[in-house]
Amino acid sequence: MKVTVVGAGNVGSTCADTLAYREVVNEVILLDIKEGIAEGKALDMWQKAPIIGYDTRTVGVTNDYARTADSDVVVITSGLPRKPGMTRDDLIQINAGIVKSVTENIVKYSPNAIIIVVSNPLDVMTYQAHLASGLPRTRIMGMAGILDTARYRAFLSDALNISQKEIQGMLLGGHGDTMVPLTRYTTVGGIPVTELLDAETLDAIVERTKSGGGELVKLMGTSAWYAPGAAAAQMVEAIVKDQRRIFPVCIQLQGEYGVDNCYLGVPVVLGKNGVEQIVELQLNKEEMQMMRTSEGHVKEVMNVLDALNKA
Ligand code: NAI
Ligand code: 2OP
Repeated sequence: MKVTVVGAGNVGSTCADTLAYREVVNEVILLDIKEGIAEGKALDMWQKAPIIGYDTRTVGVTNDYARTADSDVVVITSGLPRKPGMTRDDLIQINAGIVKSVTENIVKYSPNAIIIVVSNPLDVMTYQAHLASGLPRTRIMGMAGILDTARYRAFLSDALNISQKEIQGMLLGGHGDTMVPLTRYTTVGGIPVTELLDAETLDAIVERTKSGGGELVKLMGTSAWYAPGAAAAQMVEAIVKDQRRIFPVCIQLQGEYGVDNCYLGVPVVLGKNGVEQIVELQLNKEEMQMMRTSEGHVKEVMNVLDALNKA
């Protein structure tokens, strides 16, 4: 199995490193537009292999898409990250062009690949990659839900003083302040979280999750990479090992959740064909309303992209 990661920056290199040391695939190609950076990082990872003990070959290339040919899965992380004071949506102008050209090159050399988009604004960059690739929606998806859920689970673990491994959560909607963490579907060792935490504490955790990305940008001056890179690698692993795991993943909705032609995070089954199934939860009125708000926001940014693509 061969995986390409486009963008050898913070997120892309973390993703490639995770894929390598976990031996998810035989070969990881890391590609960047900046001369030498991907080659250097891939070589550094290859020199880490004797220490950790893994066989996955990491190869870096500068914009050489021929070397990515016949990849089974491609992760797109190329593009600008947020700086303090910026929203994810502020990145659209520059990242839209990058994601478009990268996707076209990827599809040219790996027409059968499954594509995972990470670049922001995530939901709309998934739309951009879908437009540029012409792939069926089951093979083009965005990573955000695993990351947002991981943040939610980490905050819950702290509040409860219970292992993160015991905490299961689900979250819907766009990757931004309108995301919809579902407390009703959150369990701790099988126990509904609502039996363990009061509403006020849970609300505070939900709010912190929604601005979890911003909290890190403020601390570091750029956006996060360890959890995002690992989250993208987890999606790759579910696909290449045909694990059929359920994760929140951004995909084009075509009527599911009453949403048409909008890219939003929903629970899906991930397996060898990409998105094998979209799981439709029975949302209550309040949850449905939050989903509508998220849809409205993502559609607004999709319209901005449509205008950019026409210009
Ligand atoms: P970074 O600046 O560390 O790395 C980006 C890399 O992309 C750079 O090495 C740059 O040279 C490369 N690049 C730019 N244009 C390119 C092109 N045309 N072809 C190939 N490579 C190109 O940024 P970082 O922190 O890795 O973030 C990458 C993207 O991921 C950003 O848009 C960020 O907002 C997004 N992100 C999304 C998350 C999510 O949950 N979906 C989480 C974290 C980051
Ligand atoms: C994050 O949530 C910036 O989208 C990125 O960390």
